[in-house]
Amino acid sequence: MIPATLHQLKVFETAARHGSFTKAAAELSITQPTVSGQIKQLTQTIGMPLFEHIGRKLYLTEAGTELLSTCQNVFEQLDNFEMKLAALQGAKRGQLRLGVITTTKYFVPRILGEFCQSYPNIDVSLQVINHQKLHDRMADNKDDLYILSNLPGDLEVHSEAFLDNPLVVVARADHPLANKKNIPIAALEGVDFISREMGSGTRRAVEKLFGENDVSVQVRLELGSNEAIKQAIAGGLGISVLSRHTLITEPPNGELTVLDVKHFPIKREWYVAHLAGKQLSVIAAAFLEFMLKSSQTTIENSSRRSLALQA
Ligand code: PGA
Repeated sequence: MIPATLHQLKVFETAARHGSFTKAAAELSITQPTVSGQIKQLTQTIGMPLFEHIGRKLYLTEAGTELLSTCQNVFEQLDNFEMKLAALQGAKRGQLRLGVITTTKYFVPRILGEFCQSYPNIDVSLQVINHQKLHDRMADNKDDLYILSNLPGDLEVHSEAFLDNPLVVVARADHPLANKKNIPIAALEGVDFISREMGSGTRRAVEKLFGENDVSVQVRLELGSNEAIKQAIAGGLGISVLSRHTLITEPPNGELTVLDVKHFPIKREWYVAHLAGKQLSVIAAAFLEFMLKSSQTTIENSSRRSLALQA
């Protein structure tokens, strides 16, 4: 076994994560020469260089990259052990790292709020991003659990569907197609449309459906936020397709409405997923169970008196 100390591995992992000895020193509250010294000793023990300096930049060598992923596994296991110990002592402490898709911000914080009443001492990190970025985080094993609609094709994951995620056509309440029934999808030909950004799962689903039905809309604006899209619709810039969950905060007779277009809603589901082989921490396993049990009721309660439930 390589006789490296845990401290050396921590110093290395921090420096590799930041790509900087100075930042590692600041995070660990030690001096920069201490960081260099620890990494020098570790390099000697391993017998291969871990970093290379090119210009003013610091890069990991192949051995460094391997060591970084080993360190991340070791520290994750140690964190899990600490949480198990805390659970054995009845303390329910630890960290919960969640990676979630943009639209889930309309309900995940509510579920988290309820969960945290039973686990008041946990730290939660919540990354709210689009599908492309979430798949990248999954590939890097950055979080405990992920909530998403499109599962990555190239990673082995365990997933459970827990809720529908229908995509609907949203327009301003005074749009000429509002209140019409069974609108043929061809009626959307040439309409002013507000699209989500590249990498968005919503955008992919919409482009697929329009492509299959030979419909070309006029993209007036591309926005990376569902809330900004709702404002743009209200501002009269066009219609869009959004998850019905984004309407949870909209009153039934407000500025926005859902158009009754054929082929809509696009049917999708929300999954809660984790990498296959991932050892879930006590907290993550508890959250997973809680999510599967109570999400439906929490979301129905928050949708009551909103456009989402009427749509
Ligand atoms: P997106 O996903 O943020 O990647 O578009 C949203 C959704 O699936 O509803």
